[in-house]
Amino acid sequence: MSRLRVLFAASECTPLAKVGGLGDVVGALPGALRRRGHDVRVVIPRYRRTMQAVATRLARPLRVTMRDRVLESAVYETRLPSDDVPVYLVEHDELFDRDGIYGGVAHGYDDNARRFAFLSLAAVALEAVTGFDPDVVHFHDWPTALGPVHMRIRGARAASVLTIHNLAHQGAFGLEHSETLGFGRDAAALVGVEHAGGVNFLRGGIVSATRVATVSPRYAAEMLTLEGGAGLSETLRGRANPITGILNGIDDVLWDPRTDPHLPANFDASSLAEKAVCKRVLQRSLGLRERADVALLGCIARFVHQKGIDVLAQALPALLALDVQLAVLGAGEPWAERFFARLSASSPNVRAVIGYDEGLAHRIEAGADFFLMPSRYEPCGLNQLYSQRYGTLPIVRAVGGLADSVEHGVTGFVFEELSPESLVDAVKTALAVRRDSERFRAIQRAAMTKRMGWDQAAPQYEALYRLAMRDRAHEA
Ligand code: ADP
Ligand code: GLC
Repeated sequence: MSRLRVLFAASECTPLAKVGGLGDVVGALPGALRRRGHDVRVVIPRYRRTMQAVATRLARPLRVTMRDRVLESAVYETRLPSDDVPVYLVEHDELFDRDGIYGGVAHGYDDNARRFAFLSLAAVALEAVTGFDPDVVHFHDWPTALGPVHMRIRGARAASVLTIHNLAHQGAFGLEHSETLGFGRDAAALVGVEHAGGVNFLRGGIVSATRVATVSPRYAAEMLTLEGGAGLSETLRGRANPITGILNGIDDVLWDPRTDPHLPANFDASSLAEKAVCKRVLQRSLGLRERADVALLGCIARFVHQKGIDVLAQALPALLALDVQLAVLGAGEPWAERFFARLSASSPNVRAVIGYDEGLAHRIEAGADFFLMPSRYEPCGLNQLYSQRYGTLPIVRAVGGLADSVEHGVTGFVFEELSPESLVDAVKTALAVRRDSERFRAIQRAAMTKRMGWDQAAPQYEALYRLAMRDRAHEA
């Protein structure tokens, strides 16, 4: 089979710039594809936080035309630590030299339409600077969803693939932004960007991409329903070819309890005594009582509606009556930050760390007994995969990728209804299983030894790229 040339265009890429799971996917899937022999590269903005990365400045500047203005940018090249994946960092300080990636949770930066329209255009124009001529450009979520639109308008040779990681974030802006996007208003209507009295980046991408994918088969089906479609179900159903659901994998190197440098002790399915050390050290560091017998529940999440963090908050009185401990790490909606901070100060069995802490995320994954994900919806979810690998049984709601990746009573616990009662019942079931230590160990072993690496998803993306190339050749 021929070697594919693929350019990933995204707003996040772990470890250079990460807000959530999108960064993890863009940081790991290119490497998995390279291991299969393909030439895969990535383009992201040169944010303030990526400026310290060791990088070479390319000789030629990138020219991007937005409206009538030609913006000149420097492009830097760096490499990901694993698999030597080339990453192009597009510099435009006026747009990207700031602390955040998107801005606040409630309200992003005012000029996000312009920032990410620029990124989409830069990805499409990059070849002139790098000489890398991709067969497929693979876009991710709304920040790069105008890419497929521009490729279609220009009649680009390459095929475009758009992966939707979260349908709720669409890049919807007022119609007055239409011109800053790089095309006139009439064109915006034609290519599907104009929608519901405004512009909608994701809708444009869905209409224009050669192929559209999402991050689990279940979510691919959910997004076609009125309830799960976030206003775009009709657009999704209107595509000539179906939405492909490919379950995310995990980065086997970054998330391996046998070698994880963040842990006080390393372990695998046959050395669970070391996992007990991780639990003890975690309890100590958080100021929880060092008890081996009590079940320690972990939760790491962006505190947003999607994650059912309100449901967890409502369930807490009943949960804490069960004699469990809870370790929470997250940041987001202010009410949730206040709620968990207050509870952490007043309850001896709850510790919440408000903020972003990569190392602590690994230590909670390793030290907890169970991991809570009461998501309202979840396109894929990565933490339930990490926790399985670390023998920390996930307790998840049966939606999206959670339903596709956790098997009730086999590798974790699954509940249907989004309510505090259902969550508490599921925790009770899990605690009962834990009292049967032989059964509990068997589930831990099944979870830990399950194959979850990107080597399973990578061939599926490869097949999708080939379909997209075939479609593109037919169109042309
Ligand atoms: P989402 O992308 O919707 O936030 P995922 O489960 O796909 O959900 O991925 C979340 C990723 O972000 C995981 O790698 C998780 O560990 C990480 N993460 C989320 N919040 C924090 C935090 N406060 N500190 C450290 N890591 C976090
Ligand atoms: C999004 C989704 C999450 C998914 C991640 C990576 O952030 O919310 O469910 O795991 O993207 O695809």
